Amino acid sequence: MKYYLEERIGNPELFTGRKKELTFFLKWIREIKERKSKSTAILARRKMGKTALLERLYNITFDYNNGIVPYFISVSPKS
Ligand SMILES: Nc1ncnc2c1ncn2[C@@H]1O[C@H](COP(=O)(O)OP(=O)(O)O)[C@@H](O)[C@H]1O
Ligand SMILES: [Mg+2]
Repeated sequence: MKYYLEERIGNPELFTGRKKELTFFLKWIREIKERKSKSTAILARRKMGKTALLERLYNITFDYNNGIVPYFISVSPKS
């Protein structure tokens, strides 16, 4: 698979686990076309892997190229 969005993890091979989460969200992404999916938030403490998961979902979805166009926006908190 080509990695269209550069993942902050660096080397994509470093990504491990998250099978359950990927399965859940890939089904969720598939069901967007059937209008079954509701807006969903991922809540976890910092450094738990939220961004890494979303970046990987983006790349899988972009690569699959089956009528769902992912977009990724990152907002930095004001310091
Ligand atoms: N599935 C994973 N496999 C390996 N390393 C991961 C994974 N998810 C996150 N990491 C690493 O853990 C750190 C925190 O991940 P990150 O996605 O930035 O967390 P969050 O967005 O929840 O704050 C990063 O250095 C990232 O590369
Ligand atoms: Mg993050």
